[in-house]
Amino acid sequence: MKNKNKTVWSNRFSKGNSRNFQRIGSSINTDKRLYKEDIFASIIHAQMLVKQRIIPKKDGTKIIKGLKKIEKEIEKNKFKFKEKFEDIHQNIEKRLFEIIGQSAGYLHTARSRNDQVVTDFKIWIKKASLDINDILNSLIKSILKKAEKNIYTVMPGFTHLKNAQPISFAHYLLAYVEMLNRDKKRFLNNIDLIDECPLGSAALAGTSYKIDRQFTAKKLGFKKPTGNSIDAVCDRDFAIDFLSAAATCAMHMSRLAEDFIIFNSEAFNFLKFSDRVLTGSSIMPQKKNPDPAELIRGKTAINYGKLNSMLTIMKGLPISYYKDLQDDKALVFESYDTLKDTLLMANELIYNLNTNKINMKQMAQKGYTTATDFADYLVKKKNFPFREAYATSSKLVNYAEKKKVRLDELSLKEINKFLKKTEIDNIKIFDVVSSMNSKISYGGTASKNVKNMIKKYKKEIR
Ligand code: ARG
Repeated sequence: MKNKNKTVWSNRFSKGNSRNFQRIGSSINTDKRLYKEDIFASIIHAQMLVKQRIIPKKDGTKIIKGLKKIEKEIEKNKFKFKEKFEDIHQNIEKRLFEIIGQSAGYLHTARSRNDQVVTDFKIWIKKASLDINDILNSLIKSILKKAEKNIYTVMPGFTHLKNAQPISFAHYLLAYVEMLNRDKKRFLNNIDLIDECPLGSAALAGTSYKIDRQFTAKKLGFKKPTGNSIDAVCDRDFAIDFLSAAATCAMHMSRLAEDFIIFNSEAFNFLKFSDRVLTGSSIMPQKKNPDPAELIRGKTAINYGKLNSMLTIMKGLPISYYKDLQDDKALVFESYDTLKDTLLMANELIYNLNTNKINMKQMAQKGYTTATDFADYLVKKKNFPFREAYATSSKLVNYAEKKKVRLDELSLKEINKFLKKTEIDNIKIFDVVSSMNSKISYGGTASKNVKNMIKKYKKEIR
């Protein structure tokens, strides 16, 4: 076998790997996605080795030039990734030998693939977290725009999917802004934990070379080097944190998707979507289905699954490095790709959504949604204890239900029959818009509040 086809460890081995094992054991088809990070980390590593006089300067210079050439080759799709060399690290090292000859042999001094892969992966996840953050910002901006147009759009708020109390559709949308803002924090907080550079931990014990870990950490954009070489190569909690943030964010989006599916149904008819985000049926000519929302809801399972797989890989795994860990990257990449698509689809749904205001208001008037307002009125204006007011209001609801009318269709005379020592002269209590606008407590659905909150979120996002 020619030297260029040999594995790094071929001198110790009398036989090559079986075909099946080569295919299954190789991760190149997944981790080639780390080529930029791997080359970046190798260049900084080489610079450090030269600076510390661990390798000759002329070889260091050749290494860096060769690595940059490889990066261009990969970018131009001219690089041949080979399963035989297992992963991105060895593919690049092998190619470096082809380009610069024996000088390439100096690069792997004072490092191992174990610290190399975690370094690349951490750099990648940091960037991915910032990417997700940007996408979350665009989504939040779209939601705020839609909310601004729907401050006065009244709809029933639900508990148990039963009409509960009138709310503003903008207020409903802003609930998701709160969730997404916390999602952003989850991704950003994780960066803080990732921010320690593993490079220089070598296989697991550290190294006897006089390396400068502060230098590599800083140049690679980390706050500091990791403090324990074993922990550095064996832990993947940063991947779990990313997967967990992704799963939580996907969960939020699945709830939005489910709400939209319900609100778009003929039974509710609160929302209409543009044809841009709908599909038809191959048999039922009339159909317009909200597929993107269903895809979002479904894909959340993928984000959950990846998190669960990573947790399971880690469970009981002795420290430090085991090949089990190799699957970490596929899990994170797939979770990232899925979440990105989910967020893009959510953004398009929001953008392409129109509210059916008349229907929403009519629905808000159904189900005696202002019964609490009546009880509150008796407490505030007529000094009722809340429980007595509640009981009185229940009786009024029973009466209206029997008569098959809404509360705002009752006359003052009918209402006053339920009040013994007092009477009311204000029928506006039963108006759904007044009800909505009366919820002025901080975080409540009154239009005034909603306007202020939109202002606040806009300021925060700038
Ligand atoms: N491709 C490997 C992974 O992703 C790199 C580390 C290999 N280390 C080893 N000791 N075999 O986990």
